[in-house]
Amino acid sequence: MTKKKIVVLSGAGMSAESGIQTFRGAGGLWNGHDVMEVASPEGWEANPKVVLEFYNQRRKNAHEVKPNQGHLLLAEMEKDYDIQIITQNVDNLHERAGSSNVLHLHGELFKVRSTVDDSLVYELDGWELNWGDKCELGSQLRPNIVWFGEAVPLISTAFTIAKTADIFVIIGTSMAVYPAASIVDYVAHQIPKYIIDPDIPPVYGINNLHKIEMGAGEGLAELIEILRSS
Ligand code: OAD
Repeated sequence: MTKKKIVVLSGAGMSAESGIQTFRGAGGLWNGHDVMEVASPEGWEANPKVVLEFYNQRRKNAHEVKPNQGHLLLAEMEKDYDIQIITQNVDNLHERAGSSNVLHLHGELFKVRSTVDDSLVYELDGWELNWGDKCELGSQLRPNIVWFGEAVPLISTAFTIAKTADIFVIIGTSMAVYPAASIVDYVAHQIPKYIIDPDIPPVYGINNLHKIEMGAGEGLAELIEILRSS
């Protein structure tokens, strides 16, 4: 029997139980940081060392944490389902938990790229990218992250994947950032959709949406039960 395809859209809340801060809300990562200073082409232009240091700290933190119960359950679900994850997260916790199909919509923390040729992307050893670290063409390397105001190169791939879902699951995202938040619009009307979040954000116009008001780990355990009994 062919496995049902579950497409997952994950956001910062997916990694919260691993100890990675979410972006919005009290105490969030953007609290105290001017987003445009550390996550925009203008910020990079104005002060690249501040940007490099910001991502070095994110990387250092990501090295120190481990996948949580939610990441592990998603990896385990591959036994019974065809799981495709579309994540807005730049950490690699889905992969470290064992998930096989992960699309990083907003880039990857442990990859860096050339500032003169977007196709020159490199894995970073360790956690530091410094001013003066250059690509093979001799230009400064930058974090391989999609910043505010930049195009999202993988968005059409994400839309195509969303159309193939038998079940669609949204986990730990405020659905406040576009175009990521519009991926669900590409999922067919009749397809069951679940949203797992301890503080479900306002979502409108999503047909056949079931709310699981729990954290990622507990919420995924609940989802597995629901799917088993349906
Ligand atoms: P947000 O910080 O906007 O939203 C995090 C969501 O996770 C909120 O809805 C929380 O209620 C929820 N949450 C908190 N704890 C949780 C838990 N234990 N389990 C499950 N959910 C939990 O993060 P994103 O929606 O991911 O982009 O933000 C989207 C994008 O905005 C990010 O990819 C980033 C940011 O700017 C870039 O950096 C390009």
